[in-house]
Amino acid sequence: MSLPLDSNPPPIQVGLLGIGTVGRGTFEVLQRNRGEIRRRAGREIRIACVADLDLARARAIVGEQARVVADARAVIADPAIDIVVELIGGTGIARTLVLEALAAGKHVVTANKALLAVHGSEIFAAAREQGVVVGFEAAVAGGIPIIKALREGLTANRIEWVAGIINGTTNFILSEMRSKGLDFGQALQQAQALGYAEADPRFDIEGIDAAHKATLMSAIAFGVPVQFDRAWVEGIAALQTADIRYAEQLGYRIKLLGITKRREQGLELRVHPTLVPATRLIANVEGAMNAVVVHGDAVGTTLYYGKGAGAEPTASAVIADLVDITRLHAADPAHRVPPLAFQPGAMQDIPILPMAEVVTAYYLRLVVADKAGVLARITGILAGHEISIDAVLQRESGDGEGQTDLIILTHDTVEGRMDAALAQMQALPTVLAPIVRIRKEELS
Ligand code: HSE
Repeated sequence: MSLPLDSNPPPIQVGLLGIGTVGRGTFEVLQRNRGEIRRRAGREIRIACVADLDLARARAIVGEQARVVADARAVIADPAIDIVVELIGGTGIARTLVLEALAAGKHVVTANKALLAVHGSEIFAAAREQGVVVGFEAAVAGGIPIIKALREGLTANRIEWVAGIINGTTNFILSEMRSKGLDFGQALQQAQALGYAEADPRFDIEGIDAAHKATLMSAIAFGVPVQFDRAWVEGIAALQTADIRYAEQLGYRIKLLGITKRREQGLELRVHPTLVPATRLIANVEGAMNAVVVHGDAVGTTLYYGKGAGAEPTASAVIADLVDITRLHAADPAHRVPPLAFQPGAMQDIPILPMAEVVTAYYLRLVVADKAGVLARITGILAGHEISIDAVLQRESGDGEGQTDLIILTHDTVEGRMDAALAQMQALPTVLAPIVRIRKEELS
């Protein structure tokens, strides 16, 4: 038996800026699940107006269901529009339009991680001033409700750390390198052929996209301002198949992780290729999938897994924000969930630690002369910097080869110490090539 809704409020009116892949997904899911969404939100959520420079494409998607305009400002200026959804991307015109929409008193929903990671402080302050909401569930890990989990589901916890595979393109590339033995260039070509990587995949492979998302998670996990410029960002372009193989022999997989961690002296915020024990669930997240692990003091470790991109997974997150805003539309701003999880007056300015102060473990690969005393000299340097060795692997060198690969896993140490030890090891005449250093996290 279905119960009647208490009243029959008019639909909430949404203006869409940009109707590309995610915009189309949002329109279609809202249409398809209209009844279910209304039952949850308490009123219909209707895309009333769409702005897109490609008018023909926009009209082909929305038909007669919504007004289509080329000028985004016409949407923002429309007094009937309650929520503006920004799906343009980038930090240029998108920033201007989001600020204009907020100034016009509209709530904003965006999937734009770059915009919020770089200009978040300005945007959240503008929203607060106007008493409106900025929803950004779609900006991190696509369809995975990680923002909701961090902001609400885990709200009892003192979050200790968050680590995630938050870029599908690079995870696909790493999976191909491991499972098919491809080198980085070949795997990137595959990703491009399948439409995962952009034609200009720099943001993906250099770790920038993951750092945008890690920055947002750090802000809501710890109640600090968004500080993308303080993040350490290292991509996967230099990664070699040989290291993926050696890591596997030692029981590890290499993943591009976005990590943010609470330490006594401050916060760590970093993106880099990372060895993870192959037995961890997150190590087995393959292809373009995303996953985030959150460790809270009360709940322990929790894992969130799903599609981090794509039309409908991302639309799922956009619409979740639309429903939240619809439910709270009439609520006093003080009674809403704060966008950054912590009350604005309770935000803290905890410093992001420089990379030299980060504590992590390491995988090192040295190409060394295969002669007496070389290993002793290297382990002596590590001991001199108080770096403890966890495991050592040496490739059996071929007849007359005269050199070999030496793989060392260390226990946790301070990055600055490792930098100093590496410089000393690199200067040895018996170290024959640049040393490969990859960070390692147990995530236990
Ligand atoms: N380029 C991103 C990825 C898309 O590969 O995950 C989703 O943000």
